[in-house]
Amino acid sequence: MKSIQDVISEKPYVGWLLFFATLVIVFLVGLFGASIIERRSEAHLVYEVVRPVQGDVYDNSQWQDPYPRQYNTYLETRDTTFQSKYGGAASIDMLERYPKMVILWAGYAFSKGYNQGRGHYWALQDVRQTLRTAVPQPATCWTCKSPAVPRLMNEMGVEEFYASSWEELGGEIQEPIGCDDCHDPETLNLTITRPALVEALEAADREIKEVSHQEMRSLVCAQCHVEYYFIKNRNNYLKFPWDNGLDVEAMEKYYDTIEHVDFVHALSKTPIIKAQHPDYEISRFGIHAQRGVSCADCHMPYRSEGGIKFTDHHIQSPLNMIDRSCQVCHRESEETLRQNVYDNQDRVRRLLAIAEETLVKAHIEAKAAWDAGATEAQMATILTFIRRGQWRWDYISASHGAGFHAPLESATVLGTAIQRAEEARSRLAALLTELDVNIPVQLPDLSTKEKAQEYIGFDLRDLSKQKEIFLETKIPQWDKEVSIPRAERTR
Ligand code: HEC
Ligand code: HEC
Ligand code: HEC
Ligand code: HEC
Repeated sequence: MKSIQDVISEKPYVGWLLFFATLVIVFLVGLFGASIIERRSEAHLVYEVVRPVQGDVYDNSQWQDPYPRQYNTYLETRDTTFQSKYGGAASIDMLERYPKMVILWAGYAFSKGYNQGRGHYWALQDVRQTLRTAVPQPATCWTCKSPAVPRLMNEMGVEEFYASSWEELGGEIQEPIGCDDCHDPETLNLTITRPALVEALEAADREIKEVSHQEMRSLVCAQCHVEYYFIKNRNNYLKFPWDNGLDVEAMEKYYDTIEHVDFVHALSKTPIIKAQHPDYEISRFGIHAQRGVSCADCHMPYRSEGGIKFTDHHIQSPLNMIDRSCQVCHRESEETLRQNVYDNQDRVRRLLAIAEETLVKAHIEAKAAWDAGATEAQMATILTFIRRGQWRWDYISASHGAGFHAPLESATVLGTAIQRAEEARSRLAALLTELDVNIPVQLPDLSTKEKAQEYIGFDLRDLSKQKEIFLETKIPQWDKEVSIPRAERTR
């Protein structure tokens, strides 16, 4: 048998052939790899001619004629039929599903009503309907709901926008989340329209102009799917608590330094930090973000129509499109990939349930201690531990995608949540004994949302009535059908 070496020395062209064949293979592999991660190049192929939208935009329907595919798929966010094990587009009553949340948020609007998010199309409808807006709110609550927000900010100034009331600007906000939220209408480039994100990046010494295109495919989402708070003594100015970093401890340190309190817990009197939805921050700890996969890669995959490839603007759970989302990069079957997601989410849910149980007990035991005459000095450290535990639980709970985006980070944060809550409870056990209270403290029946709400003394019927009056009388000028884009209403 001749070796390759012998063949090459007899026929030198074989060597060159092998060389060029290797070159071609390396080139093709490179192309394939690049096309997976750098999918933007394809987008530019499809839309070589950029057609800027003219005139006064901020109205989603104006984008329909030039960009019918993107517009029509965007309208599909109206579909609420898809449900996965934990996520999906249906408006699920979270308090009914997890009644312990009512106790955890006692004294705060979230204990009144909290539904799982639907598609972007419903953003206005849902914020108007929720019982949380039955009480006066600042205009800051509109910030992540409509392309009218950047328009109003331009017209009236950012500070003035935040300083207005929710009711005052209600009539101006007529369009749900849309094209102008993420695109520059002149160039169609991805753009950041919300000042809070630009300011937060600047605080971290980063300029939005230096950001890569792939990163922009996540940052457009980070305008809204993040942790934030309103600066009370600056007229509800919106800020991301990122000054010390983007992890749960760094944000806690930030909040502690400014002594931030979202509400004082009605049972335990703990000064609580309410977490929002830090999907962007948490996902940074996951393998996908670390390998450069963007939010849009999974939530806005490519779609084909009549041979034309475009970005799917039906932003939704990727589990409803595993073939176009995950399977672009993974060879496994749909079933396997779905099961991978569920396995991670199941584990995180188990830890969430333990954290909820522990925190509920801590709040109720703390109430028992107060009732038995505990002093502020005796309670101070205990309440600090409850605050730390609840912040960590809520941080993961409020981020609907965390269980898949970064399962290990989620489990770590929940582990420390449970540890903090148990620390509070062991101190409470000692204090309750000292105060002659029998332990364990009797726990109420919290098997349904209604029972939990009854326990914290909240009458849903009263509030619903109040909300009805609000919708019917206080704001008659608000179009009740506002969440339907104009094009839909007229055509
Ligand atoms: C202007 C603010 C804003 C931006 C920008 C934004 N979102 Fe949302 N998103 C929302 C709001 C508000 C909701 C909840 C809407 C509701 O429940 O009515 C939501 C809901 C969702 C949902 C749940 C819907 C479902 O069917 O499961 C997903 C997923 C989602 N967004 C992903 C993204 C991704 C990915 C991006 C970036 C490409 C993004 N969002 C950009 C505000 C925003
Ligand atoms: C939540 C952010 C977001 C919103 C809202 C949004 N887009 Fe996009 N859009 C994207 C992203 C991300 C891409 C991919 C851009 C890239 O990688 O170059 C994109 C790409 C596009 C493209 C380029 C071609 C393509 O298909 O990739 C067009 C055209 C477009 N969008 C139109 C629209 C229209 C019209 C609307 C309103 C109905 C809209 N977009 C709303 C995020 C958004
Ligand atoms: C590797 C793919 C992948 C990437 C990257 C990714 N997600 Fe997700 N996301 C998922 C999956 C899978 C779920 C779980 C959906 C479910 O349970 O139905 C999810 C859930 C969500 C949800 C909750 C949706 C629901 O139906 O309840 C939101 C919101 C979300 N992601 C936003 C984001 C944002 C913002 C980013 C970028 C910072 C991002 N995702 C990056 C795959 C991804
Ligand atoms: C743009 C490419 C890309 C997309 C889209 C993508 N992945 Fe991945 N996925 C990766 C990469 C890269 C890794 C890391 C593997 C490595 O580097 O060894 C990974 C790792 C994983 C892992 C193992 C790590 C873990 O977290 O358990 C699972 C499971 C996974 N992906 C599931 C999914 C699912 C489900 C989807 C769709 C919702 C998806 N991926 C979408 C590229 C992608």
